Amino acid sequence: MSWDGLIKEYGENLPVSGQTPGLTLHEGNTPLIKLETLSKEWGIDLHVKVEGANPTGSFKDRGMVLAVAKAVEEGSSTVICASTGNTSASAAAYAARAGLKCIVVIPEGKIAQGKLAQAVMYGAEIVSIEGNFDQALEIVRDLSRTEAVTLVNSVNPYRLEGQKTAAFEVVDTLGSAPDILAIPVGNAGNISAYWKGFKEYDGKKQSGLPRMFGFEASGAAPLVHDRVIEQPETLATAIRIGNPASWSLAVDALKESNGHINEVTDEEIIEAYQLLAKTEGIFAEPASCASIAGIRKSIQSGVLPKGSKVVAVLTGNGLKDPQTAIEYSPVIPAKLPNDREAVKDYIKGTMGV
Ligand code: F0G
Repeated sequence: MSWDGLIKEYGENLPVSGQTPGLTLHEGNTPLIKLETLSKEWGIDLHVKVEGANPTGSFKDRGMVLAVAKAVEEGSSTVICASTGNTSASAAAYAARAGLKCIVVIPEGKIAQGKLAQAVMYGAEIVSIEGNFDQALEIVRDLSRTEAVTLVNSVNPYRLEGQKTAAFEVVDTLGSAPDILAIPVGNAGNISAYWKGFKEYDGKKQSGLPRMFGFEASGAAPLVHDRVIEQPETLATAIRIGNPASWSLAVDALKESNGHINEVTDEEIIEAYQLLAKTEGIFAEPASCASIAGIRKSIQSGVLPKGSKVVAVLTGNGLKDPQTAIEYSPVIPAKLPNDREAVKDYIKGTMGV
């Protein structure tokens, strides 16, 4: 079956018209994979939504295709965003595809290498500031009020509209909403978008509603502590955010869904990151694994009932951030001479025969 991207496939649920260009990189339709081993070990029915399978390797493509298509429709020639990396990669790709100029403002030294490579390759203008994401976002919001540029951060309502399609896909695949949707929280757009999507589908199809479980990184957990974090810190740089733009929408989603918000430490994130790759063959970036770390923690504390059907959102591809992978799982190959027998003997030794 062919898949023509979100504007075509979910157009009737999106604010598009005949005037909206049919922009696409064939985003969406990402795999929902059951984690067989972890489900058994943890006594739940656990599935992951692999958003790293999107064209630029993160969920941002869902919102960006719509934000950029609407920018074109409205006659804009330039898009701008602040980013911890994935938004900038996605904005740059869709702008390139649509023939728009793209400007990205990023926190110096705090963006994973793959994401930076993407922005460069897609031809964005890159501005790196000696500040964090929250400060970068303030600057671009300010600029977009007076200049002829379209802001494509998730404060642009088309972003959340596009991102809500992930909830549609979860329901379309499972047949109904799961008991719990676990998701990493940074700027708090995605948790808000999923909740919107689940509510809309339930209104149309009586597909049910999940409880929303959001997880922030411990050094960057404004929702958990109910205060702005001036100097957020975490190795999960994608969610190194101290003052989320969609704060109140996320609080609504948590309240309305009888949800749960908690923090996970960098150590817990790394453990989940390695566990997911080694036991299930799925490589997601560290921020994404806050959802897995959070599930594990919630089962241990009893907040997450055994037997629940849980969907964890894996927001970005592990290949985005090879440095963190290698730092925590050093590549130490066995170095051998180019001697056929010696190599064979060594390999046989590792096979335990
Ligand atoms: N996971 C990844 C991989 C992300 O890149 C982000 C956000 C999130 C989770 C959190 O999502 O902000 O909607 O709560 N990245 C943004 C960026 C901030 O600039 O790429 P959120």
